[in-house]
Amino acid sequence: MLKISNVSKGFNGKLVLEDLSLELEPDETIVILGPSGCGKTTLLNMISGMEKPDAGHIEFNELTVDSPSTQIAFILQDFGLLPWKTVLNNVALGLKIKGVAKKERTEIARRQLKDLGLQGREKDYPPVLSGGEKQRVAIARAYASDPKLLLMDEPFSSLDAITRENLQDTLLSTWKTTSVPYLLVTHSVEEAVFLGKRILLLSGSPSRITGVFLNEDFGRPDFRQTDAYFRLIRTIRKQMGESW
Ligand SMILES: Nc1ncnc2c1ncn2[C@@H]1O[C@H](COP(=O)(O)OP(=O)(O)OP(=O)(O)O)[C@@H](O)[C@H]1O
Ligand SMILES: [Mg+2]
Repeated sequence: MLKISNVSKGFNGKLVLEDLSLELEPDETIVILGPSGCGKTTLLNMISGMEKPDAGHIEFNELTVDSPSTQIAFILQDFGLLPWKTVLNNVALGLKIKGVAKKERTEIARRQLKDLGLQGREKDYPPVLSGGEKQRVAIARAYASDPKLLLMDEPFSSLDAITRENLQDTLLSTWKTTSVPYLLVTHSVEEAVFLGKRILLLSGSPSRITGVFLNEDFGRPDFRQTDAYFRLIRTIRKQMGESW
């Protein structure tokens, strides 16, 4: 469904990503790990259509990606909520842009908020929410517009460990029910192993894909407690030590 072919991108004459190719299958989830500055956000920006590759090609469902589309939802590193709009209106925003009537978009937004445990917070404004709550509003907004692909840039990085694990659980169970594939960027190896059916390492200067890990046990109940989980974390850490 998503096909990235030989993409390169640089800024001010300096190449950041070189000759990157990647395909995402409809029932898949991919997590990308890479050192700061290696081009992870740049890659998501290009997939979302907000930036153009210097070379190569990105296709989504057989159409060239050259501008943002409502099919691809993007949760930004800082959530991207509008502080002057209520929680409900933030969640309904994508639907409004799509031209969905007010009654229907309000209903959908309410349902999404309920699914993410935010019932009763519809009339609040983002500045009064905690980091985890803002995160859930951003996820609700992304799912409300019925995307075909979800991009997430370090979505849980500013949260405490327990809230973070709860939101990882929420994301995984939402994926299990909606089957909307996602591509997530993180600095946490544990998060990558919990949320990625496939895990990619990006590193080098310019960056390339320097590791690919298939996570056979992804999505298993109590995965965080299993030997397979810890084993994959160790394998990835070892490779990161060698290629960073
Ligand atoms: N619009 C831009 N103009 C100039 N340079 C840019 C621009 N966007 C990104 N860069 C540069 O490209 C490189 C990759 O940036 P990017 O934000 O993609 O890194 P990242 O992997 O997401 O890092 P982090 O983990 O810190 O978020 C950096 O050196 C950055 O300074
Ligand atoms: Mg980034």
